[in-house]
Amino acid sequence: MLKNLIKKKKAKIGIIGLGYVGLPLAAEIAKKGFTVIGIDIDRKQVRRVNRGYSVVNDVDSQTLKMLVKSGKIEATTSPRVLKTCDIILICVPTPVNVNKEPDLGPVIKSTREIKRTLRRGQLVILKSTTYPETTEGVILPILHETGLKVGRDFYLAFCPERIDPGNKKYGLMNTPTVIGGVTKNCTTLATQFYREFTGKVYPVSSAKVAEMTKLLENTFRNVNIALVNEFAQLCERMGGIDVWEVIEAAKTKPFGFMPFYPGPGVGGHCIPIDPYYLSWKAREYDFHTVFIELSARVNEEMPYFVVNKTIDALSASGMCPRKAKVLILGMAFKKDISDSRDSPAIKVYQIIKPRIAVLKYNDPFVSQLSLENKIIRSVRLNARELKKYDAVLLLTDHSVYDYNFIVKHSRLIVDTRNAIKKRSSRVKRLGSR
Ligand SMILES: NC(=O)c1ccc[n+]([C@@H]2O[C@H](COP(=O)([O-])OP(=O)(O)OC[C@H]3O[C@@H](n4cnc5c(N)ncnc54)[C@H](O)[C@@H]3O)[C@@H](O)[C@H]2O)c1
Repeated sequence: MLKNLIKKKKAKIGIIGLGYVGLPLAAEIAKKGFTVIGIDIDRKQVRRVNRGYSVVNDVDSQTLKMLVKSGKIEATTSPRVLKTCDIILICVPTPVNVNKEPDLGPVIKSTREIKRTLRRGQLVILKSTTYPETTEGVILPILHETGLKVGRDFYLAFCPERIDPGNKKYGLMNTPTVIGGVTKNCTTLATQFYREFTGKVYPVSSAKVAEMTKLLENTFRNVNIALVNEFAQLCERMGGIDVWEVIEAAKTKPFGFMPFYPGPGVGGHCIPIDPYYLSWKAREYDFHTVFIELSARVNEEMPYFVVNKTIDALSASGMCPRKAKVLILGMAFKKDISDSRDSPAIKVYQIIKPRIAVLKYNDPFVSQLSLENKIIRSVRLNARELKKYDAVLLLTDHSVYDYNFIVKHSRLIVDTRNAIKKRSSRVKRLGSR
């Protein structure tokens, strides 16, 4: 029956969590003709979605408005609607606590809500990134409390989300989807559903394999970023070698090399968090994930490295750092997006603040931030404003920045992204002395 509903696009889709993952997914599924109901505990987000207003980069408000108006997307805070859904996707956060241990609270809470009204024929798909064995070891036992049996009465699969917010080249529709079900039936149904609205689907033998696949991808990124960050530090120490030039040269090799770039650290809801899910789980098997620990150590050191470089640059320019005024450019964790969660820029902000006199930031995508119980606001970026500062610290290389203009009106710039191509003694780049 579910197969038929999927084929005819009559299956009703419930999406728990309407954030950076859930909302773009809701929009793509709705565009293909399915009816989507989004469930979120954040009343503000529910109101925004129902008004057709999107704060997520990958969904434009015009499209959302059109989908809401045509009745294809609706949002609510009430999980009772889950009863009416044929397919439920869980897209809630999977953070770590202060000790960097997994916090599956939102996933468990969502599963309990699903359990309340679980019925025959429903398909549940976990999208949130997590450690291997979550789907079978955490979600399944909760759903089995209903007496219904997986693979026979209801279906359960893990399908990692690969969205890369702000990526103009690869999105939901042209990035293959990996799916692993708890049983064969589960994989088949989840695969069939995904094939109805997205491009290539790559089924794997189990939910565990799919969970591990996502962690391999993100750990791979984390490790390689750490590697170039270490190279950047070494190039600075040695002097006379520019890490960016080295990467450009290495990139010419058509095989066996893939470029990664240094920066002020790693941020967002994935790269700095997901590897900890794996290292935590590995300990249960007396296994220490050395690469993960090592790359975390290097990447987490980068904000400190960048602050020291800025303080040194101020001193070298004859300025007393304690009296200095510094402007940070870019608070988002990467270019052209508004997401500042776990951004290395926030870390830099917190580390440098007590060491200088005045600290402000500008980010065209992040108008304000709540830091240490205070709201701080992005300042305007114009010649007068730039001239007020002793140093500009470029942390996120948004495309809208006019770098020539910034160089022209700034006294000193610390560029952590190699965004400023023009060489000048006033521009100090990370990874180059
Ligand atoms: N952001 C990314 O680029 C990305 C990429 C791939 C995978 N992921 C993974 O996807 C998951 C979601 O990430 P995100 O970036 O969309 O998070 P997000 O914070 O942007 O969105 C999560 C949404 O879930 C809601 N929520 C939290 N608990 C809830 C509950 N119990 N019931 C209903 N709604 C609830 C929140 O209010 C929020 O709107 C995480 O596991 C993340 O690691 C994220």
